[in-house]
Amino acid sequence: MKQTTSVLFVCLGNICRSPSAEAVFRKKAAESGLNIYIDSAGTHGYHIGKPADKRSQAAGVERGYSFKGLKCRRVDESDFERFDYILAMDNSNLSNLHGMSPSQYHHKIKLFLDFADVEEQEVPDPYYGGKRGFELVLDLIEEASDGLIAHLKQTQS
Ligand code: 4NP
Repeated sequence: MKQTTSVLFVCLGNICRSPSAEAVFRKKAAESGLNIYIDSAGTHGYHIGKPADKRSQAAGVERGYSFKGLKCRRVDESDFERFDYILAMDNSNLSNLHGMSPSQYHHKIKLFLDFADVEEQEVPDPYYGGKRGFELVLDLIEEASDGLIAHLKQTQS
């Protein structure tokens, strides 16, 4: 029997974009009936152990997503073996992940927006901006989550 597919979302701090991706994708995956192991992490360790940024939580909760229990952690070497999909929010995260990963796992590392039907390649860092940035993060993450679910439905059937 095929093992549960696993997905790791990665950004810089693991307090804005990747926990938002985790929260959105958890809800959408559950609604789609897919059995997926989901987690998120950051390439840097500025906020280890902290919950998601209050602005990300406020914007996400408003759309019906839960951030309960999410705690910031850093990408670990074992993640590259453990996860099937390691999805970066921007090109800087992507290149940091390539630098951290043994080359045998590079095929697992992709931009999350590769799965979205949008012109943007990256989910922009909202940390130093206003509310609009947090809404854009969610818009892009919702698109990419739908695309990833469609992809996983195809590969798991
Ligand atoms: P994230 O956003 O990578 O989407 O979690 C950031 C969070 C924290 C910082 C930068 C970006 N920081 O510089 O502390």
